[in-house]
Amino acid sequence: MNRREFIRNVSAAAGAVTLGNIGCTRNTNTSNTNNNKGEEKVHKSMIIYFSHAGENYSVGFITEGNTAKVAKEIAAQTGTEIWELKEKEPYPEKYTTCIELAKQELEAKARPEFVGEIPDLSEVGTIYLGYPNWWSAAPMIIYSFLDAAQIDGKTILPFCTHEGSGLGSTARKLAAAYPKVKFELKGLELFGHVAQNEPEEVTAAVTKWLEQMEK
Ligand SMILES: Cc1cc2nc3c(=O)[nH]c(=O)nc-3n(C[C@H](O)[C@H](O)[C@H](O)COP(=O)(O)O)c2cc1C
Repeated sequence: MNRREFIRNVSAAAGAVTLGNIGCTRNTNTSNTNNNKGEEKVHKSMIIYFSHAGENYSVGFITEGNTAKVAKEIAAQTGTEIWELKEKEPYPEKYTTCIELAKQELEAKARPEFVGEIPDLSEVGTIYLGYPNWWSAAPMIIYSFLDAAQIDGKTILPFCTHEGSGLGSTARKLAAAYPKVKFELKGLELFGHVAQNEPEEVTAAVTKWLEQMEK
């Protein structure tokens, strides 16, 4: 399904919603470089993701979000620390209500609050940043996180689940919003229903992507 088809289907499902209105674990994935003083500096990586359980397009009611499954597979393959970004005010479980709220947040350039403290990123060089595609953008809570975190100069490898729109525009918008961050635009994109229901495909896609990122 392409983006236009996705939006058409969503609009039909949404009814009144119209187009115009519509615990950290220890990281083992490190690399060493020398800083100016000749001391060894360790650049760690970290997985940070947002994912929404509840009712969703193409998967019905889920207890673990699609992006969460991909995040955990990246953690399993890399041994990288993982931190879940969680909203303070829970997003609605009902799909049509959630997409309406997400659209309002996008249009308002909202910065919804998240819970907890951002983990220490001082030694982190690379962030694997995961999120669902919400209206061809990253959810605004991702912007809340990026506004609050010390991320200048870091590399961000985005991974995204979607139902037709892919990752492309979401990463481009993030790169434009945070020009001091090195965004890898060839992020990992996976259909949400595949992420949810096809673990072997997720494993293979993550392996392939990680290999590409290492080159
Ligand atoms: C609020 C909302 C907006 C969405 N907008 C899009 C979209 O513009 N394009 C698309 O391909 N999928 C869209 N989707 C589908 C999600 O990207 C897809 O279901 C994703 O896998 C959800 O990931 P999660 O379970 O980690 O939250 C949207 C879903 C929701 C809930």
